[in-house]
Amino acid sequence: MAQGARFTTSFLKTSSNNAVQSRFGSWWSHVQMGPPDAILGVTEAFKKDQNPKKINLGVGAYRDDNGKPFMLPSVIKAEANLRSKVLDKEYSPISGNVEFCKHSINLALGDDNDVVPNGRNATVQGISGTGSLCIGANFLSHFFPGNKDVYLPTPSWGNHAPLFKLAGLNVKSYRYYDPKTCGLDFQGVLDDINKIPEKSIILLHACAHNPTGVDPKPDQWAELCQLIKKKNLFPFFDMAYQGFASGDVMKDSLAVRLFVKEGHHIVLAQSYAKNMGLYGERVGAFSLIGADKDEASRTMSQIKILIRPMYSNPPINGARIVTEILGNTELKREWLVDVKGMADRIISVRTKLRDNLRNNGSTRDWSHITDQIGMFCFTGLKAPEVERLTKEFSIYLTKDGRISMAGVTSKNVEYLAHAIHEVTK
Ligand SMILES: Cc1ncc(COP(=O)(O)O)c(C=O)c1O
Repeated sequence: MAQGARFTTSFLKTSSNNAVQSRFGSWWSHVQMGPPDAILGVTEAFKKDQNPKKINLGVGAYRDDNGKPFMLPSVIKAEANLRSKVLDKEYSPISGNVEFCKHSINLALGDDNDVVPNGRNATVQGISGTGSLCIGANFLSHFFPGNKDVYLPTPSWGNHAPLFKLAGLNVKSYRYYDPKTCGLDFQGVLDDINKIPEKSIILLHACAHNPTGVDPKPDQWAELCQLIKKKNLFPFFDMAYQGFASGDVMKDSLAVRLFVKEGHHIVLAQSYAKNMGLYGERVGAFSLIGADKDEASRTMSQIKILIRPMYSNPPINGARIVTEILGNTELKREWLVDVKGMADRIISVRTKLRDNLRNNGSTRDWSHITDQIGMFCFTGLKAPEVERLTKEFSIYLTKDGRISMAGVTSKNVEYLAHAIHEVTK
């Protein structure tokens, strides 16, 4: 098992003579140029490309079958409802919109949960998934009673390690993805978790693991739940894709609900970026599920004390949209249909891509394209193959071979399959 973080915080590097230089005119000559963001860099290169057949498979945002950003009809209706009301622009409380928080935790745990009625949750509105993860990371950094090591799956979302490090936690890893099968290395997961010292933090992707699209099956989650309990580890769930993976919000939150039912006291980060298409609204939630009401109020008070100097209180608009949808039975029903529509389109282009590769004569096993789930597919393409896809076919993706299935449409899937076949045959 790899110990210690493998990335460097290059944005924090300084040269030794910075203090001297500042006296001679420049305060910042010691600041080195940091590397560009791996994913945003792909989009920049895509924009410059003049090829009309170009495809951007780097971006992690849903696109419709015409490759255009998608506004969910339920969100359009919710916004129209909000416009018909006269709403003030007063500050939100530090913990955000109270109704929004209640809907968020119920969405994660299901309406029949016994956590909310017993007041065991401390839920706050966060700045989308990333901000909610940051609240959790900072809270654990200050108050977690065990060691300050957080274990991430290998690989994990590229922003996990930097954000946990920035909060002062030690980032470590456990095996997760098996490049040989393009699937889950379940034995590797179990072996590595068995070696994690007790009272450490373990980060789990609740569904639609990013970047691999590989999730444990329900019986594997059940085994993980027992092992993590036996090892006395603390589960931090990141649920950025609830509903987006299978099209069913309950199915996608299975792991979270199972762990809570089995007595784990978890923390949870939620995002409405993908499942409501509210990317730029930056709306999400952070929850801590404690032993009882008293623990929830004590932890809540400290979470608010951490939030106050960071950004004081969250923005109001996105939370209003989410509350309008989740608080209205009819709109919620429409939203569930919208989410399913997005998930189904992704599932159908997965099948089309696999079939087109076969039709092009590819003899490779591409079954992982349809076995994997959610926005991303870890294709197994090697860096030189990715480079050829970009150079020769104007197809843009990250070097690790991850493609965003959201960028695949019924119009470009044949060209994409042809190109992948050309670079892999
Ligand atoms: C695994 C995972 N967690 C969290 C996020 C956070 O997204 P956002 O801050 O846009 O809600 C993402 C976004 O790509 C993600 O893939």
